[in-house]
Amino acid sequence: MYQSLEASLHDLFWASESHADESHLLENFLQQQTGPSLEIGCGSGRLMLPLLEKGYQVEGVEIASDMVELLHKNAKERDVSPLVHHCAIEEFQPTQTYSSFAIPAFTLQLLSRASARQVLRKLRDISSEQTKLYLTLFIPWAEILDELEIDTWYLDKETQLDSGQTARCFTKHQIDRLHQTLYREHRYELAQQTHLSSQTLQWYFLPELINLLESSGWTYQEYDADFQKGNHDTDASVITVYATAS
Ligand SMILES: C[S@@+](CC[C@H](N)C(=O)[O-])C[C@H]1O[C@@H](n2cnc3c(N)ncnc32)[C@H](O)[C@@H]1O
Repeated sequence: MYQSLEASLHDLFWASESHADESHLLENFLQQQTGPSLEIGCGSGRLMLPLLEKGYQVEGVEIASDMVELLHKNAKERDVSPLVHHCAIEEFQPTQTYSSFAIPAFTLQLLSRASARQVLRKLRDISSEQTKLYLTLFIPWAEILDELEIDTWYLDKETQLDSGQTARCFTKHQIDRLHQTLYREHRYELAQQTHLSSQTLQWYFLPELINLLESSGWTYQEYDADFQKGNHDTDASVITVYATAS
């Protein structure tokens, strides 16, 4: 996962979706604490590097080598020096106590339900009483409501590069509504290059998520819907959830 074209096109596809920017929510969250923060699944530093430039103390954990390589390249261009732990969050060994943990951009959903619980419990175990948690997840309404045909490729994302070339991501899916699990295959295309990847994603509705947090040692505080501060739309596609160590 998150290698090759999937890694190099990741930030471009996010940038092409103007309504999908959570940097202001994450910055607002970090403003409310002092001390170091850890971003889990920091990727190529899309969210983390601008925060470092603004003086926030954010470290990252990232499993994919191509993402880590891109992060170091991007950091050099921005003249910042990030601390990135190149490992799975499941294997991460902290050397300090963090004031907060951030799991933005749906990363928790890439873990099985059992792993997500273990990771949340692990983060709580390495927390102090004041540690805060930030979590962004999405609900795949189009797939749930059958607006996309099962097992059929469709154009999911498309964006134009500075070079004038067009990058595309085609997707097809299977869905298990009973277990709230989505299986996706992606085909990334850029000029003559093609890259295939697959993901298994879990989705959570708010009551289950609150239950998951509370049974992992976190106290749920509130949520923002669809990347908008103070939006509590109960039909949201994206929820950013805040919790404190309990
Ligand atoms: C959707 S991307 C988000 C990247 C970054 N947070 C951003 O917003 O641009 C998810 C990232 O999580 C990483 N990831 C997935 N599972 C992970 C794990 N178990 N431990 C650490 N990183 C993981 C992926 O390699 C990928 O870079």
